[in-house]
Amino acid sequence: MTTDSLDLRFAAACAIGREAGVLARKRFLERPRSQLPDLKGPQDFLTATDAEVEELIRRRLGELFPKDSFFGEEGGGSFERDVWVVDPIDGTANFARGIPHFAISIAFVRDGRTEIGVVYNVMQDELYTSQRGRGVFMNGEAIKVSGLKNMQQATVEAGWSSRLPAEPYIAVVEKLKAAGANVRRGGSGTLGLAYVADGRTDAYCELHINSWDVLAGLLIIEEAGGWTNNFLAKDGLRKGNPVLACTPELAEILVKATGIDKEP
Ligand code: IPD
Ligand code: CA
Repeated sequence: MTTDSLDLRFAAACAIGREAGVLARKRFLERPRSQLPDLKGPQDFLTATDAEVEELIRRRLGELFPKDSFFGEEGGGSFERDVWVVDPIDGTANFARGIPHFAISIAFVRDGRTEIGVVYNVMQDELYTSQRGRGVFMNGEAIKVSGLKNMQQATVEAGWSSRLPAEPYIAVVEKLKAAGANVRRGGSGTLGLAYVADGRTDAYCELHINSWDVLAGLLIIEEAGGWTNNFLAKDGLRKGNPVLACTPELAEILVKATGIDKEP
């Protein structure tokens, strides 16, 4: 195997995701209950654990693949031809408030295409692993999207952040409800996508989200037979984009309801 090997990188991402999860879980359980979390901005809590977990992932990948570039939500980095895009704790506000719904997201992008996606649902001990063209597994078992066709039976997660005003989000939620969907918001875009891949929900949408939140999850959905918009178009890697991912059967109706097209 050469240092270009995607197989080597895939194995490393799986192992590092689990190792980082052990650290995140430990810190979550140690969290002082009486202490309010640090506030980075409205509804955007920074915990020291984000930085610590990111540093662990950056160090391990750097030791194994020194020529690859790295971009993490907390520490930044650079986007070269081969780049790891990492969110150390997605669902930071949940983590900070003691809600066990957060995940580690590790994606590897080569020449603008995501080749590897690993998501670790830390407190449920669920590791989602995907390599382009090789399927997707949760703790080693193959998963697929629900295949649901009927909006009246669908559960759709609609994410929101303070990067955008509330009104367009509320309008999307209203349209989804009018179309018959059960709408939820769990506070982790990464896990929202993983749940579409394993059929727990039927769609995830958000009017703006960053690449570190979604790249691993989007590959996981594609490999699970789902439909996704072309998130990486128009420099989605650096700037983020709207995201829509769902069962193929619901794509047309959800494009209409959310206003999120295949091409951003
Ligand atoms: C956020 C979460 C949230 C999504 C936001 C993200 P963070 O990331 O994924 O669910 O709606 O767009 O910024 O702050 O928890 O790492
Ligand atoms: Ca995030």
